Formats: sequence, structure tokens, C-alpha cells
Amino acid sequence: MPAVVIVGAQWGDEGKGKATDALGSRVDVVVKFNGGNNAGHTVVVGGEKYALHLLPSGILTPGVIPVIGNGVVIDLGVLFGEIEALTQRGVDCSRLLVSANAHVIASYNRTLDKVTERFLGSRRIGTTGRGIGPTYADKMNRVGIRVQDLFDENILRQKVEGALSLKNQLLVKVYNRRAVQVEDVVAELLAYAERLRPMVADTALLLDTALDDGRTVLFEAGQATQLDVDHGNYPFVTSSNATSGGACTGSGVPPTRIDRVVAVAKAYATRVGEGPFPTELHDADGERLRSVGGEYGTTTGRPRRCGWYDAPIIRYARRINGVTDLVLTKLDVLTGWERLPVCVGYDVDGVRQDEMPLTQTGFHHARPIYEYFDGWTEDIGAARDFDDLPKAAQQYVLALEELAGVRISAVGVGPDREATVVRHDLLG
Ligand code: GDP
Ligand code: IMO
Ligand code: MG
Repeated sequence: MPAVVIVGAQWGDEGKGKATDALGSRVDVVVKFNGGNNAGHTVVVGGEKYALHLLPSGILTPGVIPVIGNGVVIDLGVLFGEIEALTQRGVDCSRLLVSANAHVIASYNRTLDKVTERFLGSRRIGTTGRGIGPTYADKMNRVGIRVQDLFDENILRQKVEGALSLKNQLLVKVYNRRAVQVEDVVAELLAYAERLRPMVADTALLLDTALDDGRTVLFEAGQATQLDVDHGNYPFVTSSNATSGGACTGSGVPPTRIDRVVAVAKAYATRVGEGPFPTELHDADGERLRSVGGEYGTTTGRPRRCGWYDAPIIRYARRINGVTDLVLTKLDVLTGWERLPVCVGYDVDGVRQDEMPLTQTGFHHARPIYEYFDGWTEDIGAARDFDDLPKAAQQYVLALEELAGVRISAVGVGPDREATVVRHDLLG
């Protein structure tokens, strides 16, 4: 099964990093195709915790070639900081390859991200403040700085000048900030050029060759379906395509080469930042999900908003991504509840709806319609086969499978790489 895409089904932090890492030893290449260091993936290997932001989670497996594709936006300081920290812990980062077409996050875009949020006030998105949105906006506006620009100082200077001629107007006249100097930006970026040079490659060509040779390539999404700029809860989204289509545009591999799409979904739901969240809990159940599930952002440390599992969201993710397999994570967090509500549809202004509402207003008005399932009390952390799970837990999984309309191929029962019940081989 050579080309497999892994995406998030909900609002991010579903455990994509763990799922990617768990397949690691059977994969040859892992490509990150969207987003940047707004992502945060916590991977636990033998009790050791790793927090990854820009590097694909496959980096933790010896022998895997990690690739940062053209669809990613790169904060070079964060990239090298992450490489250094991992190298110090004995992780070999020397095989990392970076697309020459990936865009870099310049310091003025980090500034703009933060000041824009401040100016939006109550209408803010709750971004991670990493400069993601402004950098993708520059890409679309055709004033972005790409990795390849760092290797031609004159071109780099011209491009920075071009970008700043607009940005400085905004920074000075609208946001009341000091103008950014072209030479400061050029110097900051050039400082990384020589370290970056050996990593830069025609990654689309490399992926094409790898697939021709029958190698297994994993495309690892940052963020998730509901945060996708086209298919998520716009405007409360990130600025890239986090759905499976993004794997193609963000890597240069065409749709005809993708064999399988795996979506990762939590057995409940969480969200960081602003935006509608129909099953959100503001009570003791929400607190309990947060504390038992350790629901604090890997990137910003913000407490995640918590709620019950929302089946229409997952059905939507199945359809938009063409999901072939679901990985259900954090089932262990639900241990100990007497009954578990699952949202099976919405009441939108008095009308029942089983699909995602058509409009933003409709989704803001959506009230969950719940069905209730029996809980279980047994510790499930050691389960590795479906039959090891208590009957009620099995029934919960089977009910979610039925509601999703796609098979649940693996179930997470703990943070560690090994803590998974495998039902179907994701690469088979
Ligand atoms: P990602 O951004 O999708 O990679 O997810 P994050 O790493 O941001 O958040 C998922 C969190 O859940 C991490 O702390 C993981 O270690 C943890 N995790 C993943 N799968 C499981 C699971 O099955 N059970 C438990 N208890 N934790 C899990
Ligand atoms: P992973 O890959 C959860 C959210 C932010 C904010 C919105 C826009 O770990 O699942 P941005 O900085 O991207 O402009 O912020 O998107 N967000 C995430 N939420 N997990 C993530 O990544 C996220 N990346 C961005 O909180 O609401
Ligand atoms: Mg995360």
C-alpha cells in the first residue's frame, strides 16, 4: 500500500502524530504537506515524550526519510531549534529534505499575526500567533519568500523589499508599529541559508521516484478537516488545506497515486481557539475530559475546549477526505462514565439536520441531538485486540463505526506508541 494520507477528522490534536509514528517502521518516507509550527504533535515512545511542530512525526523512526513539502510554511528558527533539540536526544535528523518551493515565515508575518488578532478583538480567530495566516496570504498574493530565494541574495533582497513596501504601510499607518528594515529581514533569513542548503531538494520528484520504486509514503496532515481553509468552519480555520486534497497540492503527488486515506478522530471532541463547537461542555464532564485527556495545547499550552463525540462532523470528514479507514484515539479517556452521549444530528432552529449545516449561521445555531451509550469502568490501557475491550467499549466503537459509515481500523487506548487496538492493517 504505497501512498497513504493521514488527516485529522475534527479540530486538530486527534493524535495524528502518534498514528504516524506507530506506522513508522513500515514506512519509507513521511511528508508534511500543509501548515507549519502551528501544529503540535506529542509522540510518546517507551515513556519518552517528544513534542514535534515542524518536523514530520516519522522523524522518530530510524531509516524513515522525513520530507517538508511545498505546501508547508517554515519558520527557520523553529526548524533548526527542533532539529537541535532532537539531535541532542539522539534522534537522527540528517535525512530531512525540504522543498525549494516551501514558503518561509518572515518575522514581520509573526508580528502581523499577533497585531491582527489584537485588532480583531472579539472577532479574533484565536490563532497560534506563529505567522501562519499572513505567510499563506503572502503566498496567494504572490509576495511570499520561498526556501529557494535564500540562495540568491539579490533575489531575496528584491522580494523582501517588495513584501515590505506593502507591509510597512500596514504596520506603520494602520497598526502604529515601527517599520521593519529590509536589511534586518535579509540578514535574519540569510543566516540560515548554508545550514538549509544541503536539505533542499526537488521533493516532488523524490516522492514520484519513491512511489515508482514501490516504497511506502505517508502524507501527514497538520490541523484537521474543520480547520481547513476551504472545508472547515471558516473563518475559524487555519490558512491551509488540511484535508486529503492538500496532500496532493502540498507535495506535488497527484490524486491518482493516493491509495488510502486514514482519518484520525478522538473518541470525544476538542477544539483550541475560537469558533462554533456544538457538543462543547461547560460543566464538570468537560473539566473531566480535559484533565483525564490532558487536553492542553502542545504548541501554545492553551486549555482545549472539550465536548462529546460529534458523528456528523466525522461523516463530513469521511466524505470530504475520501476516508478509507478511521483511527479512533483516546478511548481510554472515556473509562468511568456511566453513559456516553454521542451527537447523531443537529437541531438547527427547530429543524433536524443529519449533515453539516450549509451556512456558518446554521452551524452556529446547531444544537446537538444525543444518543446515549453505556459506559465501562475497566482499565483498557492494556487492550491490544478488540476482544480485550469490555463489551460496552466494543459497542461504543461499533456504534461510532456505523454512524461514520467507514471502518474503524485502530483504537487508541493510551499515549504510548504501542497502546493501540488494531482491527485492520492500515498499510495492508
Ligand atoms: P496531533 O496534533 O493530532 O498529533 O495530536 P496532539 O499530539 O496534539 O494531541 C494528542 C494527545 O493525545 C497527545 O498528547 C498524545 O500523546 C495523546 N494520545 C494520542 N493517542 C492517545 C490515546 O489513544 N490515548 C491517550 N490517553 N492519549 C493519546
Ligand atoms: P495539530 O496539527 C489544533 C487552530 C488555532 C486557531 C486556528 C488558526 O496539532 O492538530 P493558525 O495559527 O493556524 O492561524 O490558527 O487553528 N489550530 C490548531 N488547533 N491543532 C492544531 O494543529 C492547530 N493548528 C492551528 O488554535 O483556532
Ligand atoms: Mg496537535
